[in-house]
Amino acid sequence: MNNERMEKLVHLLKQHGLGGVALNPGSSLTYLTDLHFHLMERPTVLLITPSGSSALIFPELERGKLQKETPLFHAFTYGDDPATWPAVFERAGEWLNLDRGEVGVEPNRMRYLELSYLQTVLPNIDFVDGSQVLAKLRIKKDQDEIAKMREAAKIAQAGLRATLRKIHEGMTEKEIANQLIINLLKAGSDPEMPFSPIVAMGENSANPHAVPTERKLRKGDLLLIDWGAGYHGYFSDITRTFTFGEVDPELVRIGEIVLEANRRGRQAGRAGVEAGAVDRSARSVIASEGYGDAFIHRTGHGLGMEAHEPPYIFGENDFILAPGMTFTIEPGIYLEGRGGVRIEDDVVVTEEGLESLTDMPREVLPLENFIEG
Ligand code: CO
Ligand code: CO
Repeated sequence: MNNERMEKLVHLLKQHGLGGVALNPGSSLTYLTDLHFHLMERPTVLLITPSGSSALIFPELERGKLQKETPLFHAFTYGDDPATWPAVFERAGEWLNLDRGEVGVEPNRMRYLELSYLQTVLPNIDFVDGSQVLAKLRIKKDQDEIAKMREAAKIAQAGLRATLRKIHEGMTEKEIANQLIINLLKAGSDPEMPFSPIVAMGENSANPHAVPTERKLRKGDLLLIDWGAGYHGYFSDITRTFTFGEVDPELVRIGEIVLEANRRGRQAGRAGVEAGAVDRSARSVIASEGYGDAFIHRTGHGLGMEAHEPPYIFGENDFILAPGMTFTIEPGIYLEGRGGVRIEDDVVVTEEGLESLTDMPREVLPLENFIEG
């Protein structure tokens, strides 16, 4: 258990009047316990109450992951016969004295599998949305977390540079994505990456969530790459866009506009400022050039142990930024059937401004500048 983080959670539970939280395997569970579990077919859930007691219900075969139990932390394990599982959940609830009140869960993480066991054995407990509490727990990164994110950015950039050196005409999106994954691993990424790289050429770059295809690189294409690496469980998430050969002057122009929007977004944030102000600054650059309708997503999202987490950077968000918060700034312009440009950086909030963890050139540059030989 991480005692400091557990104390922070206990404080938040009291502040929000919650009788506990129930966590499925994922970032919050790992953040609190340093334990890694995967969501499989067997139920695994961590229950924590404001007294600081916690019960971990999980398969006996995974007991080796626990270093030790403490007086406030108890392991409840079960074997392979599902008929015995409800009794294990029941014992955990009794040990924690969970008999009434509200217990928070993560709406985008808690599964029906675990929730149905919990509801059956704890009929007087209301399971409610606990995302407010859990967001507050993890939203400000400490120096150690920021150092890991900085390393994740460094690894991602090294992996991309190695990939760009070997790109040639006729290479497919999928081939580039596969090489990039290999190079990210060689550069030191954790096997678990934030997401599969997006490699999008020409007209495909107009789709922000494109999946790599057999499309071949041709002269006149934009090449958009959105990728990231993992380092000790923390992620980077970067986008750079390149030209290959002579491209349509309007595509060059939108590259310049997105670059300026990215710069203005990075200048707009600092501690005490609304998250929405970052979005509005970036968006106003694009809108004033007449491409407002072609910037079809928010300016960014929080980043850390998850590829997308709070704070979300959209215009109406009045959430106040504070030192240690980390998020992306990723404006884009997408022209259907022709191409798109996105430029994405990872930043950390300081008293003075936003510090970028990513430092590869942001301009839309010719691929030829990076290709070896
Ligand atoms: Co991205
Ligand atoms: Co992103």
